[in-house]
Amino acid sequence: MKTHVYPVSAAAVGKFTSKPGEYPLSDWDLTLNESIDAKRLQDAADRLKTSNTPVAFPTETVYGLGADATRSEAVKGIYNAKQRPSDNPLIVHVASMPQLSRLCPALPKVYIPLIKKFWPGPLTILLPLPDDSPLAVETTAGQKTFGVRMPRHLLALALIKLADVPVAAPSANASTKPSPTAAEHVLHDLDGRLETIIDGGPCDIGLESTVVDGLCSPPQVLRPGGLSLDDIKTCPGFEETTIAYADASQDAPRAPGMKYRHYSPKAKVILFEAGSFPNDITPYLASTTGVVRTRDGSNTQTSAPLGNTIQDMLDELSDHHQPSIETTTVSAKTVYNISIGPDDRSIARGLFSALRDLDRLGVDCILVQGIDPRQGDMAAAIMNRLRKAAS
Ligand code: TXA
Ligand code: MG
Repeated sequence: MKTHVYPVSAAAVGKFTSKPGEYPLSDWDLTLNESIDAKRLQDAADRLKTSNTPVAFPTETVYGLGADATRSEAVKGIYNAKQRPSDNPLIVHVASMPQLSRLCPALPKVYIPLIKKFWPGPLTILLPLPDDSPLAVETTAGQKTFGVRMPRHLLALALIKLADVPVAAPSANASTKPSPTAAEHVLHDLDGRLETIIDGGPCDIGLESTVVDGLCSPPQVLRPGGLSLDDIKTCPGFEETTIAYADASQDAPRAPGMKYRHYSPKAKVILFEAGSFPNDITPYLASTTGVVRTRDGSNTQTSAPLGNTIQDMLDELSDHHQPSIETTTVSAKTVYNISIGPDDRSIARGLFSALRDLDRLGVDCILVQGIDPRQGDMAAAIMNRLRKAAS
């Protein structure tokens, strides 16, 4: 089987429109352009719908290996491609609230605040599986619940909408390998095992979604990920959420995606631990140097919630292409400065694009201001990734 990587840009696919609703993405639409990007996405959606070979696509967390969650043969195709044991249930991805209702007509009320605040986003919730569920038994691996999330990525949402089926998708790596955060990683692992990889660029978050079971009391986090426990606890009904994964006592949570060296800059990276960033960087200057600033001291500023409409995502798309880089001269040498803080979410989101941008500018060395990993699970995850980039 020949594997193709198709670059697709959300901005070129078409026009996204939405109407405000009580829930995130209650009512939105996509009108395709006559672009190659639109055709590639439509072809991928057609494959999802009709073929038994999975399609790889980007989400905000990691790349997913998607199949129609309602067709057994299609879902078996995922297990074949990944060589994954079939007793591990898959996460179902939906693109709208009406689509969720078709999978779970009586949404447990406990989840409403969580959905309103954090969808679309890196949060997977467990829902009861109705007796007449359209989901294939291979998707749920025979469980009485199913895991579902609404990804915060326009290409993922558009693909699911065009296919008009719920999409089962584990991370698009070979089983036992780290989760892929770029199309090249998927190709490296699964070349010859699938036909289509939609390349939407590197993933924003790079950690898998946080899996939350709100059906038990108190609720439990089953897998740490891109949404922090502190954020979850801000929702009514989730204040007492406990951690139910094995290594909760460790400093850095161990999401599968975190073992990965997400992005290794060509430049040398020097990571300064919290509180040790030098006032005078002269001794560290190369001929050109990049400086990534995060925050000084503790994270007192909580991040403003991200807007959760299609328009908010479109706005972020354009924000994302305009990182502000300030150029200064220190001791007659050029220094590019990027500030990505101070809150955890901005740091997690901005980190890898800052490193990529500085690499593109051809800097020889990047100085990074670290944060205190004891300030929370997100801070620990960020430092874990930074140490890998600096190693
Ligand atoms: O960020 C993500 O969640 C990525 C992207 C592609 O969306 N997907 C992903 O899927 O990480 P996967 O299959 O690699 O991980 C699914 C996790 C597993 O830890 C699985 O055990 C858990 O979710 N899970 C799914 N359904 C479950 C259920 N009904 N009960 C308990 N755990 C469940
Ligand atoms: Mg995985």
